[in-house]
Amino acid sequence: MKKELLYEILSDSPEKTEKIGADLAKELENGDFVALVGDLGAGKTAFVRGMAEQITPGASVCSPTYAIVNEYIANGKRLCHFDIYRLNDEDDLISIGFYDYDNCIKAVEWCDKIEEALPESYYLVTILGSGEDVRNIKIEKVCTEEK
Ligand SMILES: Nc1ncnc2c1ncn2[C@@H]1O[C@H](COP(=O)(O)OP(=O)(O)O)[C@@H](O)[C@H]1O
Ligand SMILES: [Mg+2]
Repeated sequence: MKKELLYEILSDSPEKTEKIGADLAKELENGDFVALVGDLGAGKTAFVRGMAEQITPGASVCSPTYAIVNEYIANGKRLCHFDIYRLNDEDDLISIGFYDYDNCIKAVEWCDKIEEALPESYYLVTILGSGEDVRNIKIEKVCTEEK
C-alpha cells in the first residue's frame, strides 16, 4: 500500500473545513473516491458540504445518515455523498447499490466501518477533533494496487 500525504491543515471553524473540502473538490473528476474518517461531530459532513458547494453552488447539503446517499449534479460533475454509519457489512453496501454508483465522485463518511467499500485508490480525509476543538485535517492519496 502506498500512502502519500498531500496536505495537513488546521481548521478552527466549520467554514474553514468547508473551504478545505471545496479546494479538494476542485481537483476531482468523476470516478474519484474520497473516504472520510473521523468521530461523530468531527466535521465530515461539513467537509462534504464544501465539496458540494464547489460542484453545485447554492445547493443545500444535509447529512445523508438516514437517506444514506445524497447526489449533487452540475456541469458534468456528479457528487454522491454517502454516510454508511448505519450499514453493517458488504451485503448492505450491495443492497443500497453502492457499487452501481460509478460515473461520479464518491464521498463516503464512515468508510473505515466497512473495509470492502474502499477502492484500489482513493483520497483519505482524516479529521481529528470534535466539539470546540481546532480540527486537524489530513488529506492523503492511498493506492493499494500491487505494483
Ligand atoms: N473546525 C470545525 N470544522 C468542522 N466542524 C466544526 C468545527 N468547529 C466546530 N464544528 C462543529 O462541529 C460539527 C460538525 O458536524 P458534522 O460536519 O455533521 O460532523 P460529522 O459529519 O463528522 O459527524 C458542527 O456542528 C460544526 O458546527
Ligand atoms: Mg456526518
